[in-house]
Amino acid sequence: MSTLEDVEPVSVNLGGVRGGPDVRTLRRDAWWRFPAATTVFLTVIVTYLAWAIFQNAYYFVGASAHRDLISPFYSPCITGSCVPGAHGTFLVLHWWTITPAIFAAAIPGGFRFTCYYYRKAYYRSFWQAPPACAVADGHSRYTGESRFPLVFQNAHRYFWFLALVFNVILTIDAVMAFRMPGQGGIGVSIGTLVLVVNAALLWAYSLSCHFCRHACGGHVNQFSKAPVRYRLWKFLTPLNHRHMEIAWLSLFWVTFADLYIRLVASGWISDPKLF
Ligand code: FES
Repeated sequence: MSTLEDVEPVSVNLGGVRGGPDVRTLRRDAWWRFPAATTVFLTVIVTYLAWAIFQNAYYFVGASAHRDLISPFYSPCITGSCVPGAHGTFLVLHWWTITPAIFAAAIPGGFRFTCYYYRKAYYRSFWQAPPACAVADGHSRYTGESRFPLVFQNAHRYFWFLALVFNVILTIDAVMAFRMPGQGGIGVSIGTLVLVVNAALLWAYSLSCHFCRHACGGHVNQFSKAPVRYRLWKFLTPLNHRHMEIAWLSLFWVTFADLYIRLVASGWISDPKLF
């Protein structure tokens, strides 16, 4: 559509009742592509994650393979069901016999689920509320996020703090991935790089968070009176602009990291040492 003259005259109540108009939108572009791609991508990723979390096996590559690689979904491995070597000194919940990946599903999973950007993405794609700008809702009612159950989305700020703890743990895992027991002590393998990139992307995701930018400086009324917060805000703002891209990339990479370690641990592939 280049000009308004290109539009066929239609009877439509622009800005009218949600889900009400017979004509859903005047847009002529392929507005449905983004929600459709989001639906496919998230369905594939979430299905894989659900399977990986409950498989409760093949998440650690240890000394017998001269490596120290643990899946990001199973770290910290602090339960009695952890495979030997995967938990180090962190084994605390001896009574816990189901998958230790429940922790990652609850905390980093909750952090992503309540993320402002992902909310927009899955509201548009799965809930169609609305599917795109200037396209009518798929529903006749919308009660917003100020009442049950969506009011719980406001927990995002608390998940942010908890997710930082996981970032620290997964950074330690990335450092531990340089260990090559029985192969000279330390080195770099593909698995090492996978976990290092994973940790870097998770930090980028947390630091580009909208709440992070707000808490670090966005809420300040007078930057001249808060120079440190101003510098923080200046540092975080360009990252925040890229939050959408970082969100997708880090989600893909953390899933890929689990898959890579799972393939190595189950013997499907080996983890080549680079140097
Ligand atoms: S807004 Fe996406 S992680 Fe906070």
